[in-house]
Amino acid sequence: MILVAESLRSFLEREPSDARAAVELFDERSPIPARDCEGIVPTVVCRVDGDAMDRLRGLRVIANYGVGYDNIDVDAARRRGIAVTNTPDVLTGATAELTWALILAAARRLGEGERLVRSGQWTGWAPTQLRGVGLDGRTLGVIGAGRIGREVARRAPAFGMRVVYADRVPAADIERDLHARLVTLHELLEQADVVSVHVALTPRTHRLLDAAAFARMKPGAILVNTSRGAVVDEAALVDALRSGRLRAAGLDVYEREPHVPAELRAIENVVLLPHLGSATEEARQAMWDVAWKNLRLGLESRPLANPVT
Ligand code: 8YV
Repeated sequence: MILVAESLRSFLEREPSDARAAVELFDERSPIPARDCEGIVPTVVCRVDGDAMDRLRGLRVIANYGVGYDNIDVDAARRRGIAVTNTPDVLTGATAELTWALILAAARRLGEGERLVRSGQWTGWAPTQLRGVGLDGRTLGVIGAGRIGREVARRAPAFGMRVVYADRVPAADIERDLHARLVTLHELLEQADVVSVHVALTPRTHRLLDAAAFARMKPGAILVNTSRGAVVDEAALVDALRSGRLRAAGLDVYEREPHVPAELRAIENVVLLPHLGSATEEARQAMWDVAWKNLRLGLESRPLANPVT
C-alpha cells in the first residue's frame, strides 16, 4: 500500500488506474495514520518523523513532493533503512522567477501600490508617491549558491545588478559567467543592497538571519526569503523593518506556516506571499512526475533518481 498526501489528489488521478490501485490518500494536516505501507508521498505541510515511520509498517520509500526535505527526519529514515527522495531541478526556474517577483515588488512597493488602488483611496499621480528604489548598479547578495540561488544570480545582470554570494563551496559557473564574487556571510550582509536567501533549513541555518545580521546589513537594504521561514528570525525582522533599518522585505515562507504574525502583516513595506515559490502549472506537475517516479523506482528496488543522502 502507498500513502499519498490528499492535496496531491488531482495529480494522482491522472495516473493509470492500475498504478494507483493500492494508493490511499491521507490528510497532511493530521498525524500520519498507522498503516501497512511501503511508500509515502508527503508534502511540505506534513512532518515525517521516526514515530510516523514506525506507524507505517514496512515503509521503504519516502518520496517527498518538494526539493526541501526539512519536514522529514532523514537520520531516522537512514537508521530504519528507508530511502528518502526529493524533487530538485524541476522547480528551480519557477522559484528563481518568484524570487525576482519579490525583489521587484519589494523594491518598487507593488504591494502598497496595489492596496492603494484597491482601497479606492488613490487620488491620482504625484511625483513623490510610493517612490521605491532602482536596482540598476546595485548589488545582489545570494546566501546559498545551490541550484536556486545560482538561477536567481543568473537573472541579476538583466536588472543591471552585480552579484556577491556566500556559500561553503565556490560556484565556478556563476563566477565565470557573471563575475559573481564569493564572500563571507558578514561581507555579504555589509555589501548587498538586496539579500536573497537560498539555503536549506538545518540546525546550522536556523535563524541564520537574526538581529545581529540585520544590524550588519546596509541601512535601507532589502531582504527576500523564498527558502524556509525559520532561516529568518521573524521577530527581529519586524524590528528591522519598523525601525527603518531595512527598506523593505519580500517573504514567501514563514517560521510557523500558515501562521504569519500580526506584527508582520501590519507592516506596509513587506510583501507577503503564501509559499508560492514553485507554484507554476509546469513545475507543480513536474514535481509530481519526479516524486511518483522516485516512488516507483524505490518500490521496484531500482536506483533512485533523486536520493536524499
Ligand atoms: C513546494 C518547496 O511547494 O520544494 C520545496 O522545497 O518549498 C515548495 O516548492 C513544497 O515543498 C510542496 O510540498
